[in-house]
Amino acid sequence: MKNLKIGVIGTGRFGRLHLEVFSHIDNCQVLGIADIDKENLKATQKKFRVERTYSDAMKLIQDKDIDVVDIVSDESTHGTFAIEAIKNGKHVFIEKPIATSFDEAVKIEELASLHNVQVMIGNISRFSTPYFSIKEAIENGALGDLAMIRAKRNFSKSWFDHFGKRVHPVYESGIHDIDLILWYANSPCEEVYAVENNISGYKYPDLFSAILKFGNGLVASLDSAWLYPKGGPQNLVETLELEGTIDADIEIIGKKGTANYKLNHSGYSIWTEKDVKHPELTLWTTEHDGIGGAIRSELQHFIFQIEKGEESLVAPVHDSVEAMKIADAIVQAAAKNKPIKL
Ligand SMILES: NC(=O)c1ccc[n+]([C@@H]2O[C@H](COP(=O)([O-])OP(=O)(O)OC[C@H]3O[C@@H](n4cnc5c(N)ncnc54)[C@H](O)[C@@H]3O)[C@@H](O)[C@H]2O)c1
Repeated sequence: MKNLKIGVIGTGRFGRLHLEVFSHIDNCQVLGIADIDKENLKATQKKFRVERTYSDAMKLIQDKDIDVVDIVSDESTHGTFAIEAIKNGKHVFIEKPIATSFDEAVKIEELASLHNVQVMIGNISRFSTPYFSIKEAIENGALGDLAMIRAKRNFSKSWFDHFGKRVHPVYESGIHDIDLILWYANSPCEEVYAVENNISGYKYPDLFSAILKFGNGLVASLDSAWLYPKGGPQNLVETLELEGTIDADIEIIGKKGTANYKLNHSGYSIWTEKDVKHPELTLWTTEHDGIGGAIRSELQHFIFQIEKGEESLVAPVHDSVEAMKIADAIVQAAAKNKPIKL
C-alpha cells in the first residue's frame, strides 16, 4: 500500500494534535508543515521531526511530493487553501468549518468532483461514539419520526478572548450542532430564525440562538454562548492544551422515543490543590497507544477512504455545504432580524 505523504497547514493546538494522531496511523507520514508563526513552525518541526517547513502555505500546497493537504489553520483561511489544494490535485482534509461562506463551500464540492480527489471535513462528532449511537437509534427506528432537536454548545469566555473572536460563533461552535442536526434530520432545512448578542465588544457576537424548520416538519434549535467564567469545570485539559470548559448538550425527541447526550459529563473527576478537572473521554483521549477517541477514528477513516478511492459515506462534503447554507442564513437572520427561507 502507498505511504501517503501529508502536508499540515497550521501548527497551533489542533494542528499539533493532528500531527500526534498521524504519527500513530499506518500508511501515512507527515512530510511538511506550514505556518505563518515561525516559532510554532520551528518548535513543531523539532517535536515531530518533520522534514519540510513552509512559512507560505501555498508552497506546501504546490509541493509535488505531498499527496494529502490537512488544513488546520484559522477558519478564514480554509476556503482558499482547500480550493488551491484541490486544484493542485491533492486529497484534502479540512478542519471545521469547511469555509466561512456558502459560496466557497460550493466551489470546494464542485472542484473535488472535477479533480477526482477525496475531500473530508472534520465533523468530529460523527466519529464520537455517543453521537454515532444516537444516529443508529434514529436509523433503526427506535425514536420514530423526529419531532424536535435541541442543541447547546457553550465555551469559556477566555477562549473567546483568545481565539473564538476571530469568526462569528456560528462557524466555530455552532457548526458542530448544525452538522449533527442535519445528520439526524435527514431532511432539507427550509427556514431559519436567529438572534445574537455582542457582550464582549469584539467584531463578532459572542452568543447566538437559532431555530430551524425542516421539510419533514422537524423543528430544531441551537444556541451557543462563549461566556463561561474561569471557575467552570476543566474538561479539555491534557491533549488540547486548553484550560476551560466546553458544555454541549443535545436532546432528540421522536414520536416513539428520545435520546440525550451531555458532553460535559461529571462521571469522572480529579480534585487537586489547584482545581477540579473533568477530563472529556470521547473526543481526543490519551490512550496506551497515543491519542485515541473520535479524532483518531476520523483521521484514520479519511486515510482509508483515500486508499479505497471513495468518498466518505460518514461525512460527505455535500453535508458540509448544506451546513454552510444554514450557517450563513443564521448570520443573515440575526443581522436582518427576520426569518430566512432557504
Ligand atoms: N474539531 C474540533 O473539535 C476542533 C477543535 C479545535 C479546533 N478546531 C479547528 O482547528 C483549526 C485550528 O484551530 P486551533 O485551535 O489549532 O487554532 P490555533 O490558533 O491554535 O492555530 C491556528 C494556527 O494556524 C496558523 N495560521 C493562521 N493563518 C495561517 C496562514 N495563512 N497560513 C498558515 N498558517 C496560518 C496560526 O499561526 C496558528 O499557528 C480551526 O479551524 C478550528 O476550528 C477544531
